[in-house]
Amino acid sequence: MKTEQIKMLISQMTLEEKAGLLSGLDFWHTKPVERLGIPSTMVSDGPHGLRKQDDKADHLGVNDSIKAVCFPAACATTSSFDPELVRTMGEAIGESCQHEKLSVVLGPAINIKRSPLCGRNFEYCSEDPYLAGKMAAAYIQGVQSKNVGVSVKHFALNNQEHRRMSSSSDCDERTMREIYFPAFETAVKEAKPWTIMCSYNRVNGVFASENRWLLTDVLRKEWGFDGYVMSDWGAVSDRPAGVHAGLDLEMPASGGINDEKIVAAVKAGTLDEKDVDLCCERILNIVFRYTENAKPETPWDQEAQHALAADIAADCMVLLKNEGDILPLAKDAEAAFIGEFAEKPRFQGGGSSHINCFRTTSALEAARKAGLKVTYAQGYSVLKDEATDAQIAEAVAAAKAAKVAVVFAGLPDSYESEGYDRTNMDMPACQNRLIEAVAAANPHTVVVLHNGAPVTMPWIDRVEAVLEAYLGGQAVGTATVRVLYGDVNPSGHLAESFPLRLQDNPSYLFFGGEARATEYREGVFVGYRYYDKKEMDVLFPFGHGLSYTTFEYSNLRLSAEEIRDTDTLTVTATVKNTGKRFGKAVAQLYVGDVESDAIRPVRELKGFAKVALQPGESAEVTFTLDKRSFAVWNEKIHDWYVESGKFTIQVGGSSRDLPLCGCVCVESTTELPTVYTMDSIFMDLMADRKSRAVFEPVMKKLRETFGGDEEKSEAAQEAVSDDMGTAMMNYMPLRGMASFGADRNTVAMIEAMLKQLNG
Ligand code: BGC
Repeated sequence: MKTEQIKMLISQMTLEEKAGLLSGLDFWHTKPVERLGIPSTMVSDGPHGLRKQDDKADHLGVNDSIKAVCFPAACATTSSFDPELVRTMGEAIGESCQHEKLSVVLGPAINIKRSPLCGRNFEYCSEDPYLAGKMAAAYIQGVQSKNVGVSVKHFALNNQEHRRMSSSSDCDERTMREIYFPAFETAVKEAKPWTIMCSYNRVNGVFASENRWLLTDVLRKEWGFDGYVMSDWGAVSDRPAGVHAGLDLEMPASGGINDEKIVAAVKAGTLDEKDVDLCCERILNIVFRYTENAKPETPWDQEAQHALAADIAADCMVLLKNEGDILPLAKDAEAAFIGEFAEKPRFQGGGSSHINCFRTTSALEAARKAGLKVTYAQGYSVLKDEATDAQIAEAVAAAKAAKVAVVFAGLPDSYESEGYDRTNMDMPACQNRLIEAVAAANPHTVVVLHNGAPVTMPWIDRVEAVLEAYLGGQAVGTATVRVLYGDVNPSGHLAESFPLRLQDNPSYLFFGGEARATEYREGVFVGYRYYDKKEMDVLFPFGHGLSYTTFEYSNLRLSAEEIRDTDTLTVTATVKNTGKRFGKAVAQLYVGDVESDAIRPVRELKGFAKVALQPGESAEVTFTLDKRSFAVWNEKIHDWYVESGKFTIQVGGSSRDLPLCGCVCVESTTELPTVYTMDSIFMDLMADRKSRAVFEPVMKKLRETFGGDEEKSEAAQEAVSDDMGTAMMNYMPLRGMASFGADRNTVAMIEAMLKQLNG
């Protein structure tokens, strides 16, 4: 429907009808206005499949939803580093939405993984905003290609579950812009999501649901978002303030209470009716975009999607360790599958994303179906969270009797979920004990992990291989068996760092915060940005992922040695499969500022490409870098800014394995506004090209005045060498000259210089 027609409709609505439209009909529907032909539309969780509920709905999944297909969660899909794969998944979800008459799927969830502890990390993409943004955009493009919308959530700074509905995420401007916003920004700019969901928390004291800076200035005016913003379920505190801020739709219904408050505020003159009209317009635009393109006859082939879920899961798995190339297993290898997860895998997280699967396939079932020689021992009980001596003895016997022991371990449901955070990074003690016992019984032990976030691995040196399967969706068992036995060569790479211990994590001291707020004191140093800066050992670095083949990186070429920040730089490199199997490499490009005033990470991901290569085959990967690839957020100009100078360009297969390195000089075209005063120090005056030109001759004269160029006595030289003198002078403010004996003429000269500089 055209904007004019929508505006016309709104002009026919009463204030009460308009206010009513701004909150849900119930848990999952928008309100209709029947007399004007405005239909009600349904939204439903996501993100990795449908959780469509009936009328007796509750949003945390206690009530059953329809049978659906559970795809791998974002912790897994992001590890694929494969936007095409995620786009395909999005298309499948979009088709199921059309089939089920859903206008919007509530996802993707793209908050940054600030700490391994966040209960919803399994649902989120990455600790890196560039990667999270690109993967989110692909998902959105996939879903929306089917003419249904997404709701990108939770905007913004919802990085913990602890006190999620009240806590303030207190964060400086630069950190928000560089770490916590870009995934949303990329999603909006590259994929035009139909809706955005605001988060529960406050941002620097103001609830996201009533934060005009967030929802209007940044989201709409800066990034160009043109859909509607809905609240997270129950995130509204002051509804009229939310309307003014740009929160269009309150979800779920507020029983009419908040609608009345909107009406009252308009009547009292504290809320402009134009704000109400604008929210209506944005909601109706999407309502009609869906209804006019609805295709409920779209088939939903769940069997085909189950198969797709297996294909996707296999391409997401990350081979963390593979000593002695124990993997892949030979098809006739006698293997003991140990651990209850082999039979009942954990493949999705708890809370609003929980899907009622029409089928699940375990690794045990898949292996038996494929005729593989596997035995099984339960090893531990997930429900009781224990491994009895008898269970361990049985597992040890099975491990001894087999050539290879494969332990399926990880985090039980209760360990990570929406609604609360973990308190530590450890796996259940019973599972760690089991792995130790099995590894002692059989030197060829492999661990398959089902978890949504990093765990500690006290047994890592005693097992030969670790396959991180994450929460791989309902067909995870099929995918696991394909990877273990080499039908699929693993190609996932970590979208997050695995620290050695929780205490190493940069947010460790402040995560969770105090009652009022959680302070983001580590700033931009999140994940690898911190571990790399501090040169710390990690268990597994960001971007890490092994393969059954080997890749070689060579021939790095940059399109220029020097560019201006308005230019783009093309970087190419060659990746070769030097092993004996078909495989997929993930080439990663990191940019680092060699010398900068801003305190910056050593390197930041600014490009990646997944390439499929036959043995012996090479391919060229190409990356395009632009201003944003080099820029920092400058709080002086409230904008992106590139500091002129040299930048490193590193390419390779992980953040800690970057064999290729080149350099480019970037020149800034933005001049920072600088005002010099008597308090300005020599160093700053000398650092800037323009001020140096004025200051240098003055400096020369000053030296003559103070006799700085005369030969010094030996004693004087010993007390303060020339180098020391220069170093000390660096920090001298101009006014210091007067204190150290400058006469009135000199001071007048400095004042004249300042006039010229600021002129
Ligand atoms: C969650 C959202 C979810 C909504 C509806 C909230 O509790 O934070 O992610 O989409 O419920 O179920």
